[in-house]
Amino acid sequence: MKGFKQHALLPTPQHDEQARQDFVGALRGHLSGRVMPGNYQLFERRVAPRFVAENGRPPADEQEIREWMTREPYYQFWSALQRRSQELLWESVIDPTEREWSALIKRARGGTPTKARKRGSLRLNPALTVPRYHAAADIHLQPGGYHTDFTNDDVAAGAIYDKGINLYMGGALGSENDLMGNTLLAYLRERHPSHQPRRILDLGCAIGNSTVVWARAFPKAEVHGIDVGAPVLRYAHARAEALGATVHFSQQNAEGTDFADESFDLVVSHIVLHETSKSALGRILAECRRLLKPGGLMLHLEIPRGRTPIEKFMHNWESYNNNETFSRYMTRIDLPAETRKAGFAADEISLEEFAPKMDVAQMNYAEHFFWKILVGRKNGAQ
Ligand SMILES: C[S@@+](CC[C@H](N)C(=O)[O-])C[C@H]1O[C@@H](n2cnc3c(N)ncnc32)[C@H](O)[C@@H]1O
Repeated sequence: MKGFKQHALLPTPQHDEQARQDFVGALRGHLSGRVMPGNYQLFERRVAPRFVAENGRPPADEQEIREWMTREPYYQFWSALQRRSQELLWESVIDPTEREWSALIKRARGGTPTKARKRGSLRLNPALTVPRYHAAADIHLQPGGYHTDFTNDDVAAGAIYDKGINLYMGGALGSENDLMGNTLLAYLRERHPSHQPRRILDLGCAIGNSTVVWARAFPKAEVHGIDVGAPVLRYAHARAEALGATVHFSQQNAEGTDFADESFDLVVSHIVLHETSKSALGRILAECRRLLKPGGLMLHLEIPRGRTPIEKFMHNWESYNNNETFSRYMTRIDLPAETRKAGFAADEISLEEFAPKMDVAQMNYAEHFFWKILVGRKNGAQ
């Protein structure tokens, strides 16, 4: 994919592997840019009028729309192709990863090929129980998800995810998959310009693509990234070392970490909450509050789930067809209310919208695109 930066931990596709990845990228671009929008036309011109004729009112919510839309051949055609494109996506990145598998593990074990000085750290916990919301199904259909070790010291899940999300987002995540970190950083600088974090925690950091952004932006701060998946963390550590960023990674569940009370002045996450569960969400928010120093900030960047019932229905495709099980509840959940239940006071919470500074030309909803940011500010002086 154009503009994606090669680094020491990424497999280098051979000619045919590259052609396959290019095909998957083009197929997905065609589906999201040309075929998917037809579903909105289908709804407006055919499904909604018929629904009104039969019920004397428009559909009340995305559930009612689902019942009608899923009967439509055009929707079925797009949905089947979208699902197949997701499967092809993983196949196209798994092949070069398998070919370079042992070399990648060696590189990750031994630091970078340039023998750069080790800066950060990696702490794994083999006894950690991977939560059911990750163990029960392969999230986004990635075989083995974020957490499965297929061999000793495995890093495959990280390498597959790194290239996979680049293809998944049509390159819109940027040359280091750093769009989300950069967006949240821009939000912090614009809306909380005086906040100067000295200890930063990134929850659900996966391959550290967003964590590295924070480490570079605040070089004097101590930056930690946690995740439940060992292979993504091994990869994150080696990748951060290769990129020259100092990050301390540890394998921990964000619902309950081993960090001390009030030990961070910034806790962030990037597209993590919708991959948990409702009970886990409450525990994660409560954990954030425990970890924040007085005056500290909690910032969770999340995917918007649509404003209208048809937009919500279309967003929920991921939940029904791409193993993003909790994401459909996120279309209905009252995040500020959940944050209050987790211990934040009403005047400490906000739910904001923030547009990314990026070229989203390949995403058909580019004009309307914004991220949701759930903010918790613990009262007190920083
Ligand atoms: C979509 S990925 C997010 C990737 C990354 N934050 C980024 O900026 O692209 C979600 C990550 O959250 C992790 N995760 C989900 N629930 C978690 C939990 N309870 N504790 C720690 N990590 C969790 C998953 O293992 C996965 O790596």
